[in-house]
Amino acid sequence: MYAYKITGQKKLQGSVEIQGAKNAVLPIMAAALLTDEPVELTNISYLSDVKVLSRLLESLGMKIEALPNKLILRADTISSTHADYEFVSKMRGSFWVLGPLLGRFHEAEVSLPGGCAIGTRPVDLYLVALREMGADIKVENGYVKAKGRLRGNEIFFPRVSVGATHNTIMSAVLSEGTTVIHNPALEPEVIDLLNVLVKMGAKIEGIGTKVLTVHGVEKLHGCTHKIVPDRIESATFAAAAALTHGQILMKNTNLNLMNAVADALRISGVVFEQRGSDLWVDASKASLTATPITTCEYPGFPTDAQALLTSVLALSKGESLVEERIFENRFMHIPELQRMGAQVKILTNQSVLITGVESLSGTTVMSSDLRGGVGLVLAALAAKGETIVKRIYHIDRGYFQLEEKLKALGADIERIHLDD
Ligand code: EPZ
Repeated sequence: MYAYKITGQKKLQGSVEIQGAKNAVLPIMAAALLTDEPVELTNISYLSDVKVLSRLLESLGMKIEALPNKLILRADTISSTHADYEFVSKMRGSFWVLGPLLGRFHEAEVSLPGGCAIGTRPVDLYLVALREMGADIKVENGYVKAKGRLRGNEIFFPRVSVGATHNTIMSAVLSEGTTVIHNPALEPEVIDLLNVLVKMGAKIEGIGTKVLTVHGVEKLHGCTHKIVPDRIESATFAAAAALTHGQILMKNTNLNLMNAVADALRISGVVFEQRGSDLWVDASKASLTATPITTCEYPGFPTDAQALLTSVLALSKGESLVEERIFENRFMHIPELQRMGAQVKILTNQSVLITGVESLSGTTVMSSDLRGGVGLVLAALAAKGETIVKRIYHIDRGYFQLEEKLKALGADIERIHLDD
């Protein structure tokens, strides 16, 4: 297995290219199932999650051409509507083929995604919505078996779900009649999917509001689309700047995608300045200060940036209460941070109290999930001495060439091979 070997306390300076959003490219790749014409996506990073989803889509008969920073997807010869456990168990986002397969082919058999390290990740909201649109849904042998011609209906989500919003929209665009979705997720990645569907000919009103109206159409056509910048990767480099008192020009990203994270870091004196399509982050005069964090749906503080900020707060003067309100088990990186010297009191499984310390010390730590793993990398960038971050396959799921990008900014980091 691979690990990162990091020697901390190097100031990060320079520019870095921000990737297209992992959490946008995944649903948009699934949306390519909705048309028999080519869908061309640019601003793509070859994350392991993208590779897993590509293999699933190809198993259904989709043809995918992977060019440098571009994917061309063709679903004119779909031969199967069975999404196997082999793929869905590796990457939960694969479950999102359910909506487009059902919407276009009126049948689908998709493996349940199962839980993951951060939570049980149920899909009840997805299935309730599909049943309300007339689908015949059976859940047996670990698979969702769905069939039927969908009809528009009024859907009320009792809680916000990014995935259930993606899936319901993608099942509604080709259904008969009109579907009104109340309380959809507003994440930028949902907006990006909606923008792609409109480019493909979908009739959707209320984009960016809490009431989406989808008028079903007969057919959708192909399109080309540049994936929205990855706001969590942007937050990652902003946190890295804060932790090393560095200055980074993040290319091809936008402050408006990460206002809640920027507001939190501004309390520590980190300066943000949008410069055209690039975002300048200056932490050269920052003084890390305790900041309360409560994760919630967009535009609130994103749960995917919680682990990134807990590493910053570990070195921020004062006490910071961090509440994780989206997932039930998203503090697995905390015990590893404590081994680096962080003072953290676990109050409940969804809240911790962090007391800032003067410094962290390098040691060997282990990633348990994607964002928790990156949180440990960030802590290692600030820590005294050498840190080995193990099981970085978690990180490869969501970051492309992370060590190259950090090295180019002045970090002392390398990927090493370990036997375990
Ligand atoms: C997406 O997951 C993202 N994944 C997650 O990013 C992100 O943390 C999450 O949205 C919240 O923003 C991708 O886009 C691939 P949800 P998703 O449905 O859609 C509960 C990362 O690190 N819920 O919005 O699965 C659920 O258990 C990943 O990039 C139900 O109860 O998240 C959770 O507590 C991690 N029933 C909450 O809602 C359902 O039917 C939010 O989940 C669906 C969800």
